Amino acid sequence: MLDRRIPIVSFFRVLNNASRILKNPLPFHHENFEKHGDAFRVQLGLGKTVIFTRDAGFAKHMLQKQHRRYTKSALQTKDLAKYVGEGLLTSTGEKWLKQRRLIQPAFHKKRLESLINTIKEVIQEEFLRIPSNKEIDIFPVMSDLAFKVVAKSLFGYTDTQGDTISRLQYITEAAQKSLVKEIRQPYKRWWFYLSGKIKNTFKLTQEARDILNTIIEERRNSDKVYNDLLDMLLTSKYDDGSVMGNEQLIDEILILFVAGHETTSNALTFTAVLLALHPEIQEQVYKEVSETPDDLQPMEQIAKFRYTKQCIEEAMRLYPPAYFSDRVAIEDDNYQDLKLKKGTTILVSFFEIHRHKSFWKNPSAFDPDRFHPDIDKKEYSDWYFPFGSGPRMCIGNNFAMYEMILAISTLVRKYKISTDLHKVDIKPLITLKPENAMLTFVDR
Ligand code: HEM
Repeated sequence: MLDRRIPIVSFFRVLNNASRILKNPLPFHHENFEKHGDAFRVQLGLGKTVIFTRDAGFAKHMLQKQHRRYTKSALQTKDLAKYVGEGLLTSTGEKWLKQRRLIQPAFHKKRLESLINTIKEVIQEEFLRIPSNKEIDIFPVMSDLAFKVVAKSLFGYTDTQGDTISRLQYITEAAQKSLVKEIRQPYKRWWFYLSGKIKNTFKLTQEARDILNTIIEERRNSDKVYNDLLDMLLTSKYDDGSVMGNEQLIDEILILFVAGHETTSNALTFTAVLLALHPEIQEQVYKEVSETPDDLQPMEQIAKFRYTKQCIEEAMRLYPPAYFSDRVAIEDDNYQDLKLKKGTTILVSFFEIHRHKSFWKNPSAFDPDRFHPDIDKKEYSDWYFPFGSGPRMCIGNNFAMYEMILAISTLVRKYKISTDLHKVDIKPLITLKPENAMLTFVDR
């Protein structure tokens, strides 16, 4: 419950903690929530303040119930769009709505069924790279897997060369890395400009745009039906009957790479590490997987892998890849007895909501049974936001769940996963990333 007088965390306290906040802001957030309650206001200097909240009702209010009164901040739109353009994730207002209506049907469950074999093939191919009996960092494998799954679902049926996809992956990752640096070290921006780093990143993203333009043009000139995401995006029509132009389509493709790649690889890595840390839970996954014939259709397998799904859901509760979101009030609003002025920025911590002791029993324990099918979804859906909430909820949520269920089940069917780690190491950047995910895979 929020109180009208939200406690203030002074700019002085922020400055005093600057170096630890830069390294990992989560403990600072947690201390302040414990001290001040479910919302506090942070002074950022120059008269700017941001409200931090872990009040699940307030999150629902602004993301869903009163979403029209809020928009995304510049950080999530203008800043993020700098290199990857204005696609679904980074656009706002009318433009966003028009694009969401156009793209939504391509992510419908029925439509995804036509992509599922491609997704499974990529997973099987990628896991062949895992050496047996050797300790490796699993994150790069999951990262390649997640990128290839999105790229091949988009244009897997053309003769796209492996090196084209690798180049697109390299550029997407390089652009994201530059952006993280610029956002985290704004005082060094002059140097990024002078040293040519920014220019270089723009040159790289232009190269990606050129590659995508060639792929799109080839496809437009082909009369074959491919049934992949690109086909769906090329044929989808706006209300006035027109189709998306190349530039907008390129923005959307780059956004799908960004939105669907890192989040999924983080979640897959966290799940694998948690299963290695909890062998008895891993054995339960293995039991479920080994009792299901490997030659069933992927969609039928997915329906059977309920416990595997619970493990992924629980991993995303403890380590939500999108660990926060924000909104800016575009008009005055009230939530309970809290008055929010137009222009107020609110940062909602999904990480904290997912570990709030009022909602979750023994919140830091990895317990997939919290998501047992017998438990009514209503019991947790108001405080479980791995894919956000409301009309801007993740468009790729089903896509991601299918992909992750197939990936984790394939991994556990093939290998026993172990680790010398004692805990999960994290690195909170734009997404919540795993660190030092050193695991050993032994053939079953
Ligand atoms: C585990 C994987 C994923 C997680 C945790 C995740 C999480 C999220 C969250 C929390 C949002 C909402 C952000 C907000 O409201 O501020 C979002 C939006 C979005 N996601 Fe995902 N996502 C995942 C996978 C994917 C995949 C695989 C795709 C596409 C292939 C995708 C595409 C998008 C897009 C386009 C948006 C923007 C939607 C809009 O604003 O209309 N995501 N995602």
